[in-house]
Amino acid sequence: MPAKLDKKKLIHPDLESVLFTEAQIKARVKGLGKELKACYGDSEFTIISLINGAILFTADLMREIDNPVRLDCIRISSYGEKTISQGTPQIMHSMTLDISKRHVLLIDDILDTGKTLSLVDGLIKKLKPASLKVCVLLDKQGRREVPYEADFIGFKIPDKFVVGYGLDFAERYRNLPCIGVLKPELQNPPEWV
Ligand code: IMP
Ligand code: MG
Repeated sequence: MPAKLDKKKLIHPDLESVLFTEAQIKARVKGLGKELKACYGDSEFTIISLINGAILFTADLMREIDNPVRLDCIRISSYGEKTISQGTPQIMHSMTLDISKRHVLLIDDILDTGKTLSLVDGLIKKLKPASLKVCVLLDKQGRREVPYEADFIGFKIPDKFVVGYGLDFAERYRNLPCIGVLKPELQNPPEWV
């Protein structure tokens, strides 16, 4: 099984390094809230969160915004239980809100190959929103296979497999308060997967 989080220890034993601490994430999410305010003013918008990965980020970012917002989710999966994207992302559950003529903010945890966001972007645009903007917490710019850029980016990161703050490996580690690089020997995958 993956090791347990010991809150007294500075680093989880399954992490090789910490990229962003809980405090750094909190500060950046606050900053993103200000960027959204500058973009949307006081107007209403509809958040579409790609789950499960963006759950924690979306929950925290929403509380930095005082605009009227509607929330919907799309459950989409590309990884299975591996660290390398498995072909075309699959939509497991689509959204339910009507977004025609609405301002839409699409939120994901990380922009990697670009396949997930370009697929969802295409689906949303077919529904004729008034506008579509995209916000990601992390951007692994060097790994793009499909050209895609987000409008709001928390942090740009190198090509490392990261977990924590919503990001998982085989559905584990989403509850880590920091974001860190998983030890390579645990990415193989281990027998608990
Ligand atoms: P893309 O389609 O390759 O851009 O991948 C986007 C999805 O892959 C994200 O929504 C994440 O769920 C997942 N992903 C990409 N890189 C990582 C990572 O380093 N750790 C955990 N999940 C990742
Ligand atoms: Mg995801």
